[in-house]
Amino acid sequence: PVAHAADLVVFGGTGDLSMRKLLPALYHCDRDGRLAPDARIIAVSRGGLDDADFRGKVDAEVRPGLHAGDAAGWDRFLRRLHHVCADVPAGRDAPAHPGWGRLTRMLAGREDTGRVFYLASPPMTFGPFCRAADRAGLVTPRSRVVLEKPLGRDLAGARHINDEVGAIFGEHQIFRIDHYLGKETVQNLLVLRFANAFLEPIWNSLWIDHVQITAAESVGTPGRRGYYDHAGALRDMVQNHLLQLLCLVAMEPPSRNDREAIRDEKLKVLQSLRPISGTEAARFTVRGQYIAGRVDGRAVPGYLDEPDDTPPTDASRHVETFAAIRAEVKNWRWAGVPFYLRTGKRMPDRRSEIVVQFKDVPHSIFSGGVPNRLVLRLQPGEGIHLLIMAKEPGAGEVVPRPVPLSLSFADTFHARVPDAYERLLADVLAGDPTLFMRRDEVEAAWGWIDPIVATWESAGDLPEPYAAGTGGPVAAHELLGRSGRAWHEED
Ligand code: BG6
Repeated sequence: PVAHAADLVVFGGTGDLSMRKLLPALYHCDRDGRLAPDARIIAVSRGGLDDADFRGKVDAEVRPGLHAGDAAGWDRFLRRLHHVCADVPAGRDAPAHPGWGRLTRMLAGREDTGRVFYLASPPMTFGPFCRAADRAGLVTPRSRVVLEKPLGRDLAGARHINDEVGAIFGEHQIFRIDHYLGKETVQNLLVLRFANAFLEPIWNSLWIDHVQITAAESVGTPGRRGYYDHAGALRDMVQNHLLQLLCLVAMEPPSRNDREAIRDEKLKVLQSLRPISGTEAARFTVRGQYIAGRVDGRAVPGYLDEPDDTPPTDASRHVETFAAIRAEVKNWRWAGVPFYLRTGKRMPDRRSEIVVQFKDVPHSIFSGGVPNRLVLRLQPGEGIHLLIMAKEPGAGEVVPRPVPLSLSFADTFHARVPDAYERLLADVLAGDPTLFMRRDEVEAAWGWIDPIVATWESAGDLPEPYAAGTGGPVAAHELLGRSGRAWHEED
């Protein structure tokens, strides 16, 4: 790997995302030689920590989860860590917090190295942070800024943030994270589709009956009410992760493996999505909220009773923890092929996958048999499974039996599957935005989501309840059931 000389300034650097995802990923980048010897990781937060406090916190909270056996490597990583106490100014003309002075002094003289600002903080701080960094003279032509999701709550909000950040950074300097794009299976989807000849001729409405994209989680939302009440499953998961997966399944072959070529094709898919609003929203979308139930044999509370500092409000009653949508890509390749999307908290288990369901054979000469199915498993157990028909050995009647041809990444490549953030941080350091969302993509995705939200809000009814530990509300099964289809469950 190439080590990229860059300091990384993480705004919100002591928060949950930083401690759970970014710092472990950066440790692995360091171990793999992707950080230059003098690269520093500077966490910025409002907490009054000094460098030693922050290193102690990371040592106590991050190291146990890493199984980092290499003590010298871990110490080297800790020495890269610094903490600066600073906040964004209270208003446009408010004076800068004194911490910005310290940050400026720390970064002085290193203008010619790439400098990465990672904004792991709520979206309303993105604009103010960029302005403060600019006023402090920290933004150089080689700087990059990474924006965590959610990028606003709707199209207008996303445009506002994009305008604010775009006033300081050029589009080529802006990296909008969707961590699903960093997952191994997701990148493998591109290789599967565009490095194999046999799939492309059948990758269309002639041969494919429908596509299912599921991101199910068994976790609930304890302690996240403040965020989740205003997001909900549609904004939290569908607008970004699920739509990005849909794009990669549906996009046309790009002419090059190139940042703009791939993102251009994804954008075309988003622009081809059939809008869903009004009465169609009632037919083609489902929203649910979990009530008490059992997950992994353990009794768990419903969404409204999750332990949280913030008490439930009316917004809590209306927010969806489950969403399912029957989407359609209106173009030559996909006309008439439903793309079913679903995501939910407190489902029976954590399982994210893309299922491509092929049509049945045009004429069967055997009794029995089921149509082929390709399953791309994102997690757990990353891999690709193709369900084919095979003859069961024996001298009697020939009966086709469905059997999986399975590729497990762990068993095949005997390598550690890196966390999505590792891959994406390495790409930021290398300046490669291919796996990041371009402004027009994010805005096109919001443009499709907004009318669904508007219809839900104007209906004013409550999401359909589902017991924790079950597969979502009844209506989610009917969404497929009325055309004789069913959600793919574990084989
Ligand atoms: C995040 C959402 O973007 O993705 C969370 O905000 C969700 O609500 C998470 O739990 C799921 O990510 P993963 O990688 O665990 O599937």
